[in-house]
Amino acid sequence: MRLLKKAAAIGIASLMVLSMAACGSGAKETTAAATETTTAESKTTAESTAEAVKEAVGGDLSDKKVGISIYKFDDNFMTLYRTELQRYLVDELGFKKENVVVQDGKNDQAEQTNQIQNFITQKYDVLILNLVQSSSAPEVTEMCKEAGIPVVYINREPTVEEEQRWKDEGIKATYVGCDARQSGTYQGEEILETSNKGDINGDGVVSYIMIQGDPENVDAQYRTEFSVKALTDAGVEVKELLKQRGDWDQAKAQQITQDALTQFGDEIEVVFCNNDAMALGALQSIEAAGRTVNKDIYLVGVDALTEAVQNVLDDKQTGTVFNDHLSQAQAAADMASAFILGEEVENVNMVDYVKVTKENAQEVLDKLK
Ligand code: BGC
Repeated sequence: MRLLKKAAAIGIASLMVLSMAACGSGAKETTAAATETTTAESKTTAESTAEAVKEAVGGDLSDKKVGISIYKFDDNFMTLYRTELQRYLVDELGFKKENVVVQDGKNDQAEQTNQIQNFITQKYDVLILNLVQSSSAPEVTEMCKEAGIPVVYINREPTVEEEQRWKDEGIKATYVGCDARQSGTYQGEEILETSNKGDINGDGVVSYIMIQGDPENVDAQYRTEFSVKALTDAGVEVKELLKQRGDWDQAKAQQITQDALTQFGDEIEVVFCNNDAMALGALQSIEAAGRTVNKDIYLVGVDALTEAVQNVLDDKQTGTVFNDHLSQAQAAADMASAFILGEEVENVNMVDYVKVTKENAQEVLDKLK
């Protein structure tokens, strides 16, 4: 038990240190070297935590049951995330494959609440939940608390007040995610780092369109706000031509961009997308309209989907930001195991984002493959 506590603490501490170093003004300093450190460290963490978990339970966690519900399966980023979650729980932590059950919330909170209820009835040992509506956290947390089942929330952050309540009331609930303000800031910096700081037509104003994710994830709000804030903080004047919800979805973003290009034409200098799936959709319309990324229009996303990182290398996307699904999935699984073992778990656990531009894109791609 003690060993796990130590290993888990070291592991999480290394994630936290990176996270804290990159918050605030330090954010600018994350480089390709930092990417390397993050990946290398999280691997060591994963290995040592897995070993410690096995030892602490006398060999294996194989009889313990983990119930997972993803807000919807049809989401590029969450698909990568859940694949790693399953792999790590089974291959590294030693849970039996059949004891790790992953459900599709189908973007329907009522359906997902039902799934959670079933996990509770079937006496699962721990739940890992990517809520459809993050505002359902207090209700879901109460259900789990009454049943004595710990819960690890991922990707869609409950409110700060709710997270504080877990701490104050000693509730076995925690959140694993990233601070999306950081990713927004990186997106803005990527525009500032271009030769003309985003002002392609030289009129002294950066004119942009903003394609937003589903607001049920606070990431959408933070990325929208902080990407533009990075520009205005640097003294750059901006003009928002359009802000519209693309719900993290490629096809929706393609349509929005197509319509915006018809309406605003060359006036659009920057297309900000809250994630890469939408940047891929935007690119389709940009190319169809005969525009050229990095020449007469800039395009940024978040996640570092391999296709998007390849596009950064090929001058089809200006930049992206690595939303580290590997470290997040591993931290979530480690927290779930710690709960099973009755260990102390922090109420909030943040993993760092990494800025991805042409300089480090190849390196990031190699790591993702
Ligand atoms: C990711 C998106 C994803 C969303 C799901 C965000 O953090 O960047 O790609 O669709 O989470 O909630």
